[in-house]
Amino acid sequence: MQVVHTIADLRAALAPFDAPAFVPTMGNLHEGHIALVKQAKNLGDVTVASIFVNRLQFAPHEDFDTYPRTLEADCEKLAAQGCDIVFAPSEKDLYPEPQGYKVFPPTELADILEGHFRPGFFVGVCTVVMKLFQCALAQGKGPRTAVFGKKDYQQLMVIRHMVRQFALPITVVGGDTCRADDGLALSSRNGYLSAAERQEAVQLSLALKALAREALTTGIDLHQLEAKARETLDARGWASDYLTVRRRSDLLPPAPDQRQAGELVVLGASRLGKTRLIDNLEF
Ligand code: PAF
Repeated sequence: MQVVHTIADLRAALAPFDAPAFVPTMGNLHEGHIALVKQAKNLGDVTVASIFVNRLQFAPHEDFDTYPRTLEADCEKLAAQGCDIVFAPSEKDLYPEPQGYKVFPPTELADILEGHFRPGFFVGVCTVVMKLFQCALAQGKGPRTAVFGKKDYQQLMVIRHMVRQFALPITVVGGDTCRADDGLALSSRNGYLSAAERQEAVQLSLALKALAREALTTGIDLHQLEAKARETLDARGWASDYLTVRRRSDLLPPAPDQRQAGELVVLGASRLGKTRLIDNLEF
């Protein structure tokens, strides 16, 4: 496995290949990321993972400074999975000058849910993903496939939309969420949880499951069900941003006659102590 840090070295490493499969990450890799890499290995003639904690997608009060940086351990894990190339640029390599040009996703997709509670987040994500795709352009060829986790459901949707609107010749593939034995969605931020919080953390996915079940099996107004789900979780010590049922197609609330299995997703974001967790479930 080759570990490269500069755009020039990445392009040189990719030059012999026709169909790179790309897994962009922020590192601190867990089984969820490893599953994306395994998936990518079947989708191209070379597998590239990037590791870059992207300041642009963090608000000033968020955890950019404390976000775990574990490059050596990450590279060991990637090598063990047969990843071919790791691109781990420094901030200077990726942003040698302040990034004046940015990608602004449409507000109806990017200013709801995560984008509402983390203003600017999707501008940061789209800008860095677009830039990473350009960095992987070698000899006129770029990544043919890029794999992103469904755990970041809205992010996956925004990136698909960006790729489509910019006519990038990249197939965006979603990887299923990996869960711990108790059902907690794997996330680098789970590492922030205390032992007691870790025990409690599964309640977010349980609350989402319950909300999905009630959305299908009762005729009660969705706003009421969502408010009850938030209240129940918050009574356990959480501070919820949203627990909500949406259409998979556009992440907008379903009309009453659209409350049918197979079309919906329930999404949640909630803070346990200092840790903000997100999760979702298609149903
Ligand atoms: O999901 C992530 O890890 C990040 O948002 C991404 C897509 C690598 C962009 O920094």
